[in-house]
Amino acid sequence: MSVKTYIQENRERFLEELFSLIRIPSISAKHEHKHDMITCAQRWTKILLSSGADKAVVMPTEGNPVVYAEKMISPDVPTVLIYAHYDVMPAEPLELWKSNPFEPEIRDGRIWARGADDDKGQAMIQVKGFETALKEGLVNCNVKFIFEGEEEIGSPSLEAFCKQHKELLKADVILVSDTSMVSPDIPSLTTGLRGIAYWEVEITGPNRDLHSGHFGGAVANPINTLCKLMAQMTDADGRITIPGFYDDVEEVSQAEREMIARIPFDEEKYKVSIGVEELSGEKGYSTLERNSCRPSFDLCGIWGGYQGEGSKTVLPSKVYAKVSTRLVPHQDYHTIAKLFEDNLIKIAPKSVKVKVTFTHGGQGYVCPIDLPAYKAAEKAMGIAFGKVPLAVRRGGSIPIISTFEQVLGIKTVLMGFGLEQNAIHSPNESMMLDFFYKGIESVAEFYREYR
Ligand code: BES
Ligand code: MN
Ligand code: MN
Repeated sequence: MSVKTYIQENRERFLEELFSLIRIPSISAKHEHKHDMITCAQRWTKILLSSGADKAVVMPTEGNPVVYAEKMISPDVPTVLIYAHYDVMPAEPLELWKSNPFEPEIRDGRIWARGADDDKGQAMIQVKGFETALKEGLVNCNVKFIFEGEEEIGSPSLEAFCKQHKELLKADVILVSDTSMVSPDIPSLTTGLRGIAYWEVEITGPNRDLHSGHFGGAVANPINTLCKLMAQMTDADGRITIPGFYDDVEEVSQAEREMIARIPFDEEKYKVSIGVEELSGEKGYSTLERNSCRPSFDLCGIWGGYQGEGSKTVLPSKVYAKVSTRLVPHQDYHTIAKLFEDNLIKIAPKSVKVKVTFTHGGQGYVCPIDLPAYKAAEKAMGIAFGKVPLAVRRGGSIPIISTFEQVLGIKTVLMGFGLEQNAIHSPNESMMLDFFYKGIESVAEFYREYR
């Protein structure tokens, strides 16, 4: 049989297996789903075993368990370690979903569900690509799998797990499907990820909510103050104003900028797809540079004051915000964490009290394009998509990838099949069926190439 025929004949079963995972709401951010994490991990071990792994186990960590599986061929051939995450983001706001986020539905040639892409769909692409390659006799390397259940909360337990299980995780390269391509007609491999630093800010003004008529104008309003402070974090040129913030930013080489400029990116389509009339960002850089190899500063959430029906004239005592920066390779998130905290405390007026809590961070990553596994991935995607994939940096973060390099000394190749239109983390997440199967074909072809 051929790779294509095997996939064709098993299409429905591959989907059913994916659906069985999607139906388990493995939301790492919420405590009430603790048990679903275990159920989901166990379900993965069953699927990995029936897909051809010799061994698949659920292993404990400080937090949610890790799924480990392997297919060992010989001590004399290279080893690939497949990383994925089985946890998903919360599905809220639920009322915006056209169908139940945890009951997958096929409409318009797409799978609609939380995790259809990030990362259950993409993890399944890896596993079914492996199964296909195995059935076709194409696997010439040892294959190990590590699926974690805490990626969406910053992988708090995985570093310690890696340190404890260095021998078990020994491999020549890590292969990951958890990134996206430039567009449906531009297949691409991800050669860079941004780092991240994330904080919670609490600003307190008066010791209780005040009547905004009695006190307004005479007492600092913490919400007004937060808005002023956050507005000062970037300037009119879209540059981040935190002193020292750009010290370790590596300027992208002219050669790479030219490569980015050659990506056939349709800015008009991009604006229409997200419903904005104008884009905005750092002066002197293109959109693709701004969202992949330049840092960014964003408020991810802000709350305080009166939010109920009607109006209430109140000068609130407190305001809260969730703040994040995306970092580029070489910027260290610990350093950035401190720079932001120091700066905020320094520029805050005495009329309020500011509390900053750093919640999590991760380093960026760059993948060299001369790795044997990168070349294999390039050739494999070329076969499945009919076009050689471009090498592009992406703006998202997978903090554990840099930890793998530091702790295990292993480089990662990012062969992702997502698309921005798949709306990961948003309501109505989806994955095109066609890409699901092309992804599986790419992974199967990867094994033919990699030895
Ligand atoms: N799969 C994404 C990361 C991603 C998506 C990278 C598309 C490149 C292209 C991952 O699950 C994710 O959402 N990461 C978080 C990390 C955070 C929770 C520490 C992110 O980027 O916000
Ligand atoms: Mn992901
Ligand atoms: Mn994600």
